[in-house]
Amino acid sequence: MVKICCIGAGYVGGPTMAVIALKCPNVQVTVVDIAEPRINAWNSGTLPIYEPGLDDVVKQCRGKNLFFSTEVEKHVAEADIIFVSVNTPTKTQGLGAGKAADLTYWESAARMIADVSKSDKIVVEKSTVPVKTAEAIERILTHNKKGINFTILSNPEFLAEGTAIQDLFNPDRVLIGGRETPEGQKAINALRDVYANWVPKERILCTNLWSAELSKLAANAFLAQRISSVNAMSALCESTGADVTQVSHSIGTDSRIGPKFLNASVGFGGSCFQKDILNLVYICECNGLPEVANYWKQVVKVNDYQKSRFVNRVVSSMFNTVSSKKIAILGFAFKKDTGDTRETPAIDVCKGLLGDKARLSIFDPQVTEDQILKDLSMKKFDKDHPSHLQPASPTSIKQVSIVGDAYEAIKDSHGICILTEWDEFKKLDYQKVFDSMQKPAFVFDGRNIVDADKLRKIGFIVYCIGKPLDPWLKDMPAVA
Ligand code: UDX
Ligand code: UDX
Ligand code: ADP
Repeated sequence: MVKICCIGAGYVGGPTMAVIALKCPNVQVTVVDIAEPRINAWNSGTLPIYEPGLDDVVKQCRGKNLFFSTEVEKHVAEADIIFVSVNTPTKTQGLGAGKAADLTYWESAARMIADVSKSDKIVVEKSTVPVKTAEAIERILTHNKKGINFTILSNPEFLAEGTAIQDLFNPDRVLIGGRETPEGQKAINALRDVYANWVPKERILCTNLWSAELSKLAANAFLAQRISSVNAMSALCESTGADVTQVSHSIGTDSRIGPKFLNASVGFGGSCFQKDILNLVYICECNGLPEVANYWKQVVKVNDYQKSRFVNRVVSSMFNTVSSKKIAILGFAFKKDTGDTRETPAIDVCKGLLGDKARLSIFDPQVTEDQILKDLSMKKFDKDHPSHLQPASPTSIKQVSIVGDAYEAIKDSHGICILTEWDEFKKLDYQKVFDSMQKPAFVFDGRNIVDADKLRKIGFIVYCIGKPLDPWLKDMPAVA
C-alpha cells in the first residue's frame, strides 16, 4: 500500500488529501499539522474549514484510509510520498519584505523531513512557492542526509475555495513538474499513477520543475489580471454610461477571450492572487526585469484602486460623510461558499469606512465574530513602504458590531454594502429591508447581485459596480 503524508492541514492540504483518499482506496493518506486544534477539528464533527461537499468526502474515508494527526515526524518517516502544503505568506520584514514569499515554514518542514527520513522519499511541493524553490529544498534535503534519495516534484494545486471538491473531482488539469533525470521521471510516474485513479490521462500534464512552479504563479497572475482589467473597465463604464455586464458579455463571446472570470467586483481577495503576483513581481525584479515587474504590479494597484473607489462612492453618495451613520456590511468572506477572509476586500472597505467614522454592523453567514474583529484590528501592511505599518485604530473597533442575521445588520442603517455574493443576499425581502432603514436608503452592491431596477422601484438609491449611475449618484461630487 502506497503511503502518502501531507504536511499542512489547511485549505489546500485538507480537501486535496481527502479527495485522494476517496479516489484511491489503495493509498493510505495521513494529513499532519503542528496546530493541534486544527487536527482535532479535522477529527471532529465540525471541520476547521467550510467547503461544500467536504464533510461527505471526509466522512467516507476518515479512519479507513484517511487520517489526521499531530505526530508529524512519525508519519513523515513512514511515507513514500510527502506533500508539503504549509503556508507561504508574503514576507513582512527584511529582504524582499512586502513581495517575496516567506519560506520559513517550508524550510523547517524540509529540515524535519531530512532529519526523520530513513528511506527514499518523493517530496511534492503543493503550496505555491517561488520559482526555483525546489532547488533550495533539494539542497536542504541532500546536504542534511547522506545515503537517502529525495526526489522533488512540483504539483501545484489549482482548486478554488468554495468549489474545492468539484475542482478536485474534475480538474481542468493536474500539473506535475520534475527533474528530467531517470529518478525524476520515475517519481513523476509514481505521482501520475495516484491521480490516474480518477483524472483522465490527457489532463495530467508533465513538465520540468521550473515550468510547473512558474505555471502556478502565471495562472494566478492571469486570472487576477482579468479581474483587474474588467474592474478598470467598470470605472470607465460608470463615467460613460456603458454597462460593464454588457461589456463583459460582449467581449466574453470572443472565443479567444472566453466568458469566465469577467465579473466586475469590489475587488479580488483570497490567499493567492495578491501574494502570488507580489511574488512574481519580486522574482522579476531579482532577475533584472523591472518592466515586467511593473506590468504585473499594476494588477494589484488596480485592485487597491477598486476598493478605495468603492469606499469613496459610499461616502460621497451619503452627503460626503458617514460619520456616526450605521452602515450594514453584508458579507465579509473573500467570496461566497467559504469562511475564509484572507485578503478579503471587506477588510479594506470596512477600514476605509471606519476611517470616516462610520458605525458598521457586519453579517457573514460563515465568518466568526472573532475572525472579523481580528482582521479589522490588524495593522495594514504597506506594500510600497514595507517598513511602515499603518497605526492600528483601537477606537474604531468600538464602532463595529457583528450580528447573526442580515435583517438585524440592516435595521436602522443608512446604507447597505454588499461585499460577498452569498446567495441569501439575493433573496432578502427588500421591501422589508427598505422599511427598516433610515431614508434616503442606499444599497452599494459590490458584487452586482441585486435586481437594481426592482430596488429602485421600492425607493432605494442603488449603486452597482460599472453600471449606469442613478441620477442621485451622478450629481454627487466626482469620485477619485
Ligand atoms: C484562486 C484560483 O482560482 C485557484 O485556481 C488557485 O488555486 C487559488 O486562487 P480562490 O482564491 O480560492 O482561487 O478563488 P477565486 O474563485 O479564484 O476568486 C478569487 C477572488 O476573485 C475572489 O475574491 C472573487 O470574488 C474574485 N473574482 C473572481 C471576481 O471579482 N470576479 C470574477 O469574475 C472572479
Ligand atoms: C485584431 C483582432 O484580432 C480583431 O478581432 C480586430 O477586429 C482587429 O484587430 P488583427 O490585428 O488583424 O486583428 O490580427 P490578430 O490575429 O489579432 O493579431 C494581432 C497581432 O498580435 C499580430 O501582430 C499577431 O502576430 C500578434 N499575436 C497574436 C501574437 O503575438 N500572439 C498571439 O498569440 C496572437
Ligand atoms: P493553505 O491555504 O495554503 O492550505 P493554510 O494556512 O490553510 O494554507 O494551511 C497551512 C497549514 O500548515 C497550517 O495549518 C499550519 O499549521 C501548517 N504548518 C505550517 N508549518 C508546518 C510544519 N512545519 N509542520 C506541520 N504543519 C505546518
